[in-house]
Amino acid sequence: MKVFWLCFFFALASHDAIIALSTNCQLRETKHGSVCVCNSSHCDYLEQPLLKDNSQIVVISSSKNGLRFKRTDGSFLEKTMLEVQDRQSIDENFIADSIVVEQNRAWLQFANIPQKFVLNANIKTVELTVNRDKRYQDITNFGGALTGSVSHILQQLPAELQNHIYKSYFHSEGIAYNSIRMSIGGSDFDLQPWAYNEEPRNDPLLSNFTTLDARDLQKIKQLQRLKSVCELNELKIMAAAWSAPTWMKSNDRWTGFGQLKPEYYQSWAKYHLRFLELMQSKNMPVWAISTGNEPLNGVIGFFFVHFMSMGWTPWQQAIWLNDYLGPTIRNSTQSQVLIFGNDDQRYTYPSWFRKMRSSRPNALNYLDGLAVHWYWDEIFGPHLIDEAHAEMPNKMILNTESCIGDKPWQTHGPELGSWGRGESYMRAYMQDLQHNVNGWLDWNLVLDEQGGPNYVHNYVDSPVIVNTTSRSEFYKQPIYYAIGHFSKFLPEKSVRIETRTNETDSLAQLSVVGFQRPDDSVALILYNGENLPLDLALSDSQRGGFKLRLPARSWHSVIYK
Ligand SMILES: *[C@@H]1O[C@H](CO)[C@@H](O)[C@H](O)[C@H]1NC(C)=O
Ligand SMILES: *[C@@H]1O[C@H](CO)[C@@H](O)[C@H](O)[C@H]1NC(C)=O
Ligand SMILES: *[C@@H]1O[C@H](CO)[C@@H](O)[C@H](O)[C@H]1NC(C)=O
Ligand SMILES: *[C@@H]1O[C@H](CO)[C@@H](O)[C@H](O)[C@H]1NC(C)=O
Repeated sequence: MKVFWLCFFFALASHDAIIALSTNCQLRETKHGSVCVCNSSHCDYLEQPLLKDNSQIVVISSSKNGLRFKRTDGSFLEKTMLEVQDRQSIDENFIADSIVVEQNRAWLQFANIPQKFVLNANIKTVELTVNRDKRYQDITNFGGALTGSVSHILQQLPAELQNHIYKSYFHSEGIAYNSIRMSIGGSDFDLQPWAYNEEPRNDPLLSNFTTLDARDLQKIKQLQRLKSVCELNELKIMAAAWSAPTWMKSNDRWTGFGQLKPEYYQSWAKYHLRFLELMQSKNMPVWAISTGNEPLNGVIGFFFVHFMSMGWTPWQQAIWLNDYLGPTIRNSTQSQVLIFGNDDQRYTYPSWFRKMRSSRPNALNYLDGLAVHWYWDEIFGPHLIDEAHAEMPNKMILNTESCIGDKPWQTHGPELGSWGRGESYMRAYMQDLQHNVNGWLDWNLVLDEQGGPNYVHNYVDSPVIVNTTSRSEFYKQPIYYAIGHFSKFLPEKSVRIETRTNETDSLAQLSVVGFQRPDDSVALILYNGENLPLDLALSDSQRGGFKLRLPARSWHSVIYK
């Protein structure tokens, strides 16, 4: 394998920096692209760009050709084009890997000719207008899931390597996550299915659920360490149950067509409350729960889902929420915990909530937010989210699960280094944030080389893959940087502002979403999805204009005051 050392970062010489200055990506070519390699003594970090004055522009870029969070500095005072240099322009031997013939742009690129000789034929210019006066939703949280599988992998790693995983995700010099999702009992990414009070059976008082499980205690230790190495005061923990203990269910099994028996509706509400109280007693309070992971798996999805799940129809769930869970939580020491509904695929929006309302008109009053999973988003459009938002404008919307590799036509496991998978994430985050979504919790923070461990061999990809053979390296994939272009630069309370381009949507080469951050600076996330560079003519309602050249197949976070 060829190893490149070509991610140059121009770090600000800040004397205030708490940990080391920005460090380079150790780029390694892999079967499907390239990854950044971290070991106990080296991992790539980028200091948060600090803006000195109103004219400064900072562009942070990643590209298919190997940029990873590369920093480029510019100014509104310079009228010349600011160009983000892609990796090929510093690598003499870079060979263009594609042939692109664009009729309307008279632009031609031949295979096997160094890129520097064929650039510039006729690069398209896109005009981008940023209007700070038009404001939309704000950002609440970004994060990933600490599943049983993730916890198991972390536990096997030397302390320093574990710390680099925490810092890569949760430190401000990593991608600044502020949130984590975890299961109440087991989930589909665990070493086996499990719940509290599996024994004794038929025990509505949950007499044996008086402490957390050893697996929870391990996760809590990991979270304590994570918070301390990342200097994180607040961590928004979002919890959801996958299944009740089997004796509470109609089919007495972990999976298949099975629902909660009505005589246990109150016990199941108490089960949630007890988890929240026990987490609080360990000084790890939970920020939000959902009404249960993917309720349709146990009603219609059981033909192809073989992991822990429990079915609900919206009508039944409204009864449980309105008559049991809602009152139990709100009339408890855990009354501040937020409750999210649905926690299932986009295609159930917004009809799921209408059906809930039809069975218990006030049930939705107990919901602070709506949780949605991304898996079928390429088929079911974002208008479903917009409709839900229009009907329930005061409820937060979070995407609470995403990963690639679950579909029959996909590789079930990592495609190490795949830029295409990174682009799927880039498109998905971009689209949701353009449509009223307040934050996103990705699925497993890390997985092993196979995309597990997983008790039903349901292997998928993850932004970070750990080498569980050597236990001395992990690999940050393009997916990690795709998410990071949002999470790192959009702190809580950033507000989306209007951005418009002069491209027609269906043929757009550039995708963009913009935010005003709590310190009033602007962060734009830009995505050039074609094998062509792109010129951007930006004009901001307050700051004026500047021109920027973006390389082919690239992502950018543009920051200015
Ligand atoms: C860790 O990675 C750095 C950068 O690639 C390398 O110089 C160092 O030798 C590696 N350390 C170990 C223990 O492999
Ligand atoms: C309580 O649960 C534990 C497992 O967590 C089990 O070993 C024990 O037998 C249970 N107690 C009773 C009385 O069923
Ligand atoms: C709240 O709890 C108190 C004491 O446990 C009880 O008396 C009261 O009826 C409960 N209120 C509701 C709305 O459930
Ligand atoms: C994991 O490390 C081993 C030992 O260094 C190496 O042979 C293997 O190729 C690594 N796996 C990956 C996916 O790079």
